[in-house]
Amino acid sequence: MGKAEPPEGEKAANEDAARIGELRERLNHHSYLYYVLDNPEIPDSEYDRLYHELQQLERLHPDLVTPDSPTQRVGETPLKAFEQVRHRMPMLSLDNVFSEDELAAFLKRITERLGIDMDLAFNAEPKLDGLAVSLVYENSVLTQAATRGDGSTGEDVTQNVRTIHSVPLRLSGSNIPALLEVRGEVFMPKAGFDELNRRALDRGEKTFVNPRNAAAGSLRQLDPKVTATRPLAFYAYATGFVEQGVLPETQHQILSALAQWGLPVCPEVKLINGIEGCIAYYHNLQQQRNQLPYDIDGVVYKVNEISFQKKLGYVARAPRWAVAHKFPAQEEITYIANVDFQVGRTGAITPVARLEPVFVGGVTVSNATLHNMDEIERKDIRIGDKVFIRRAGDVIPEVVRVVPGSRAKGVKKIRLPRKCPVCGSDIERIEGEAIARCTGGLICRAQRTEAIKHYASRKAVDIDGLGDKLVEQLVEAGLVKSVVDLYRLSTEQIASLERMGRKSAKNLIAAIDDSRKPTLARLIYALGIREVGEATARSLALAFGNLQALIEADEDALLEIQDIGPIVARHIMNFFAEAHNQQVINELLREIEIQLPSASKSNQPLTGKTFVITGALTNMTREQATELLQSAGAKVSGSVSAKTDYLLAGEKAGSKLAKAEKLGVEIIDESKLKALLGS
Ligand code: IVH
Repeated sequence: MGKAEPPEGEKAANEDAARIGELRERLNHHSYLYYVLDNPEIPDSEYDRLYHELQQLERLHPDLVTPDSPTQRVGETPLKAFEQVRHRMPMLSLDNVFSEDELAAFLKRITERLGIDMDLAFNAEPKLDGLAVSLVYENSVLTQAATRGDGSTGEDVTQNVRTIHSVPLRLSGSNIPALLEVRGEVFMPKAGFDELNRRALDRGEKTFVNPRNAAAGSLRQLDPKVTATRPLAFYAYATGFVEQGVLPETQHQILSALAQWGLPVCPEVKLINGIEGCIAYYHNLQQQRNQLPYDIDGVVYKVNEISFQKKLGYVARAPRWAVAHKFPAQEEITYIANVDFQVGRTGAITPVARLEPVFVGGVTVSNATLHNMDEIERKDIRIGDKVFIRRAGDVIPEVVRVVPGSRAKGVKKIRLPRKCPVCGSDIERIEGEAIARCTGGLICRAQRTEAIKHYASRKAVDIDGLGDKLVEQLVEAGLVKSVVDLYRLSTEQIASLERMGRKSAKNLIAAIDDSRKPTLARLIYALGIREVGEATARSLALAFGNLQALIEADEDALLEIQDIGPIVARHIMNFFAEAHNQQVINELLREIEIQLPSASKSNQPLTGKTFVITGALTNMTREQATELLQSAGAKVSGSVSAKTDYLLAGEKAGSKLAKAEKLGVEIIDESKLKALLGS
């Protein structure tokens, strides 16, 4: 006799259990695609629907709820204190090198110790700027997460780490050791950090100093519900204690295995060879540093062969087989000796801190911007204060904040002067605006000088060789009062300037002559109208077709153009209404010949189409693509939305591609773009 049929109720319960299993698997899969690969396949609403269904079923069958269920990420009860965790294997730190010489010495030491005479293979990885954690997986289920602590004992932060969506609560795949300790870094991506601080500011709360501190503070919350609101992320970079199972034989393969089991691994990790490989990787990452979505403070090279790692062993608390190659610090501490006020092209007054010179981000910095008076007030910065200076990549060094607890007695408040330090005109600050301005207009030598620098700059009429210093000399010597004067200079006049020979003077004259045929868009940009950047200048050129039409345009005509709102429209009209500007333009038109756009607005191939560009293009830069698209009448936007017509996707396209796919936006590559432009 066969087994009796189960009663109805039991049958339904079995079906629910199966459905629960299926829902968990699907949710885990989609959460992996979303949080780890940044490449979702289903819309958020669909995910929410599945999640809700699972929640309902688990409510019906509380006995079927397991800790690795996706519904169980956020724990209910806040802790009183963190428990101590003894690491089964110590969590080590890394030795640092700061130069190529030190790196070479490191390589020499280990090749000698190994007794080999070849280029050693390394796994190169970014040195993530967060905090190290250990994750223990027992039979594929996350059972414990701990901070590094002193290396031997850390704190149990399991509840908090569980809230990090990219950390799998259960691993999947084959050959997973029964006991597996994964090590890696918890960090806060830059975008999440900015957003978190923006929210804190809105609520009048204290902001975090940097993503690292924010990550540390978030992980050490006793209430997991708070941690769950913090945008934390995780990358695995090593394994610790392992039982009942074998791992691959190289660091690179171990990371691949971790990735296959569902753990997030940094996409920048790379297998390299010898010192050349290390140095190339270092420079490449240093260049990308500011574009990466998270903070790094150097790179780590790890001997790839585990057998070599075992031979090399450890000294004190660091392995001999790995080293961190640090980037020059981007933040340093120094004193504000004084504050000056600089006048920009549009009269904007910028407070600039004169510093006790300090080496930061690879160069010596003696000036740093304080942005505006509101920023000074917000950061409560005074002359004589000890401050953090930050210089990241090509950006202007800035004063980040006062070193806490360092304020001395004699510090002086910074006050906005009432008169322009250059021309003596009144300084005004319009209610509700952060920026104060000199009212001198083109009477002000500083504003004139800046206007001329802008006119000559690369994106404007592009006068090769006419740099900032030279413009200052020309204005100082009284040779140039407005941009028109540039076209009236003689070789002799230029040669008379300090450090200027006849040859360079001739070259400059030739370069000035070359700028006599600017495109309409470049000329509009070069005029330096407030808030008219390159893109707006191109739209204006396209819409009006010639300068006279733009000069005569009224507010309604301007507002019809995409991206132009009432404020920019007002700036444009004010600019052309100004008698001095009219005079300069009239004289300028006698010196130059504007290249008009070839086609008018309506018969452009891509008029009315909106594009977004993402990823790395191969045949052109993004700027070139933007220019091409705009000159064909298209609009180029920074973010994908329902209004986007096309996404131009290059290599390594990330979240924008995912979003475009989700919204059903047409995705094109460079060859398709050419075809569109040709049509
Ligand atoms: S490996 C045995 N890899 O750097 C080597 N550490 O100074 C142990 N870190 O506490 C660490 N990125 O917090 C390793 N790709 C990376 C890392 C990394 C950041 C941190 C980690 C560690 C510290 C050591």
